[in-house]
Amino acid sequence: MVELNQVYKCSVCGNIVQVVHASIGTLVCCEKPMELLVPKDADAGLEKHVPVIEAKGDGILVKVGDVPHPMEEKHWIEWIEVLLNGGGSFRKFLKPGMAPEAEFPVKPAEVLVAREFCNIHGLWKSKSRA
Ligand SMILES: [Fe+2]
Repeated sequence: MVELNQVYKCSVCGNIVQVVHASIGTLVCCEKPMELLVPKDADAGLEKHVPVIEAKGDGILVKVGDVPHPMEEKHWIEWIEVLLNGGGSFRKFLKPGMAPEAEFPVKPAEVLVAREFCNIHGLWKSKSRA
């Protein structure tokens, strides 16, 4: 069963979708069940994928990551998002050449988790804030 905010990818065509309303059906694309992307939160080496959340002005800055991720034509961060404790969310879409970061108008304490999607290395999330 799908859950709110899960991200799924089609292994055939590469479509990626995020659940904004969860129900009982199985998500299908190109006549095959879509693959659930489970976000990772630890790099094997330098932390260039795990989002880092910093307070900035009245909001936050989310950087990818401790070591800036490449933003090249063939390898870049497609989007950064924050999911909020109250159920809301913000997302910024990026392009090659842009900085691998995004500002959002929320307080750090409002953030449940930050996530980002690398076109090669997939879905990542910030470390637990407990
Ligand atoms: Fe990457």
